[in-house]
Amino acid sequence: MTEALIIDGHKAAASDGKTFDVYDPSSGDVLATVAKATKADVDRAVAAAQSALDAKAWGGAPPAERGRIMIRIAQALRERAEDLATLESRDNGKPLRQARADVQVAARYFEFFAGIADKIMGNTIPLGPGFLDYTVREPIGVSAQIIPWNYPIQIGARGVAPALAAGCTVVLKPAEDAPMTALRLGEIALEYGLPPGVLNVLPGIGPEAGAALASHPGINQLTFTGSVEVGIAVAKMAADNVVPVVMELGGKSPNIVFADADLETTSQGVANAIFQNAGQTCSAGSRLLVQRGAHDELVAKLRQRAESMRIGPGVSDPDMGPIISKKQLETVERYVKIGEGEGAHVAAGGSRPQDGALGKGFFFQPTLLDRVSPGMRVAQEEIFGPVLAIIAFDEIDEAIDIANRSQYGLVAGVWTRDINKAMTIASRIKAGQVYINTYGAGGGVELPFGGYKKSGYGREKGLESLASYTQVKNVCVRFA
Ligand code: NAI
Ligand code: MG
Repeated sequence: MTEALIIDGHKAAASDGKTFDVYDPSSGDVLATVAKATKADVDRAVAAAQSALDAKAWGGAPPAERGRIMIRIAQALRERAEDLATLESRDNGKPLRQARADVQVAARYFEFFAGIADKIMGNTIPLGPGFLDYTVREPIGVSAQIIPWNYPIQIGARGVAPALAAGCTVVLKPAEDAPMTALRLGEIALEYGLPPGVLNVLPGIGPEAGAALASHPGINQLTFTGSVEVGIAVAKMAADNVVPVVMELGGKSPNIVFADADLETTSQGVANAIFQNAGQTCSAGSRLLVQRGAHDELVAKLRQRAESMRIGPGVSDPDMGPIISKKQLETVERYVKIGEGEGAHVAAGGSRPQDGALGKGFFFQPTLLDRVSPGMRVAQEEIFGPVLAIIAFDEIDEAIDIANRSQYGLVAGVWTRDINKAMTIASRIKAGQVYINTYGAGGGVELPFGGYKKSGYGREKGLESLASYTQVKNVCVRFA
């Protein structure tokens, strides 16, 4: 069966009838054949989103009614959670329990922003007698959203829900490596009352459908999550039309561990931060900065955790599933070799698993690269796989310096019992989120999320995200 595009409330084949295959990374088998959106399809979808915006069936509806429909979408996501999670697990390879959690987080985005639809308020600004000045936050218009393959339903909901709450219409382009649950989200939204054209879903190839969307003069805003390279390219395309962009471009986020930390809890947090989703997480804790006194004990604990992880197909609910594609697997392998060449020591994993039953999938072992120094490529570049770069430090100033010596600045973790150390790091680290004695917060739907430096700009999640989907109109009234 071929999966169709969703344009203006209807399923449609690509304008030229072409399709592409989507693979199950646990087996390498074809999971689905999907319509491949063309530039003409992008034109149609943007036109549908523009008409839906102009018709005001969504943005002009009472805000509380928008909220009610979004709540229904959240409930539908929960009711179909098991099917959606299984599909996500097949498409992306992630363990079933992670996929289940992702679906719950997607539902949470719809709930959270449903509750905000009728609370998007402006200000009154005092100008003195004879004046009333007020602001209104109007929907920014047609939001184009290009998402990656690592958390399709979560990241899809993360951008779509606030856009809908604000009264915008959306054209969503999922990644070619994992487009399935974004299509289901589009179907559910329609079924539960979203008017046609308000959410269009266009699976397609990045340089074709993605580039056509990012450069389209009919969009009013662009939300992009993916690589720095493509982020820069799409921002330039959008700039030609003076279209603002929210960019979420990944990182090389540090977990900074002091010798006084509870190393048992810390090792669990550090392992989860890198091995969740096989390390294919923008906010993965991919650098461990550990104070020398705790180094040996923490690395031993991490090795134990890494070596006891069960690797397997996502739907068998292992501790870790495969990498998304052969190409990405080869990238991860290459980085481990680069690390070894630079003098790093493989303290766990470092290769594909030996298990023959896994031979057809794109599996890689949870890997610890010890004796990494801050300047090495494996300490600086995003690997996007289950590979932790371990760097030892002596003093807090050194830890802060190493942590900030990165082109990225998405998230940072600090593990210590000393409040002074924790707060010093929180204030001096250059990152959009700091976690103390924890890492991540169950999806963090409520918490503003976004990068410093090349990790991007603009904020998603939480109330802050509304700034991207609204524009402020100031109205000044003079009266006698
Ligand atoms: P990518 O940046 O190529 O893909 C992300 C999205 O952009 C996909 O929907 C893709 O179709 C689209 N895209 C690709 N080329 C495009 C173009 N020319 N114009 C418009 N849209 C385009 O990421 P890819 O190749 O899948 O992964 C490469 C690296 O990017 C990873 O190894 C990782 O380091 C990073 N990455 C970061 C993510 C994050 O969550 N921040 C997610 C995915 C990848
Ligand atoms: Mg790419």
